[in-house]
Amino acid sequence: MSDAVWRDVDSYVEDRLVGEDEALSAAIRHSAATGLPAIAVSAAHGKLLNLLAMSIRAKRILEIGTLGGYSAIWLARALPEDGQLVTLEIDLRNAEVARRNIARAGLNARVDIKLGPAIETLPKLQGPFDMAFIDADKESNAAYFDHAVRLSRPGGIIIVDNVVRDGHVIEANGNAQVQGVRRMMDAIHADTRVSATAVQTVGVKGYDGFLMAVVR
Ligand code: SAH
Ligand code: DHB
Ligand code: MG
Repeated sequence: MSDAVWRDVDSYVEDRLVGEDEALSAAIRHSAATGLPAIAVSAAHGKLLNLLAMSIRAKRILEIGTLGGYSAIWLARALPEDGQLVTLEIDLRNAEVARRNIARAGLNARVDIKLGPAIETLPKLQGPFDMAFIDADKESNAAYFDHAVRLSRPGGIIIVDNVVRDGHVIEANGNAQVQGVRRMMDAIHADTRVSATAVQTVGVKGYDGFLMAVVR
């Protein structure tokens, strides 16, 4: 089994099930043209975020790490007209690209991009949120997760991207990102406020995985 097969199966799943439309593919195109790294979630993963939000009828969603707004579009589309996605981004250039991509998707009214370091924005946010998607600097994952739990309603769900990292998550002396993921894992292990699991994934973005937690 190889990356080529993972990629081709993702293409097949996209073609049969996901239905990525012009606004989403344009968001990827414009992000690439502006020089943003190709680290948005895959289409299949974006659709999963959308379905999870739909399944709980989420009205307020928190995202940490906007990049070009690709996952934000998937999440915001799950919201009702009067719903809100608050998405946190440190980089002005990324936020500007995201603003344009989100506008092109017709989702301006539902998305609030908050510019600045997430660790400074989070204490100023008003909960409760129905869902949180954590996908920014992995070094800060433990702090972001703690804020997400605090800001969540009971029964709210928290998804954390990139928790497997080609399997490096099991390396006690891994790089700074791995150590950030592992600090979060240790904190969740001792956190009685949530119930959690992680699922390993392969696909067009390689071998990685996501964590899901439900707040009690
Ligand atoms: N969720 C996006 C991808 C996010 S990539 C998608 O799937 O489409 C990670 C993003 O987090 C980058 O845009 C990066 O600038 C941002 N980021 C990194 N450190 C941050 C911080 N301290 N606060 C807020 N955003 C941060
Ligand atoms: C990286 C960050 C991400 O959020 C991701 O999905 C993939 C890679 C990175 O920083 O390398
Ligand atoms: Mg990610």
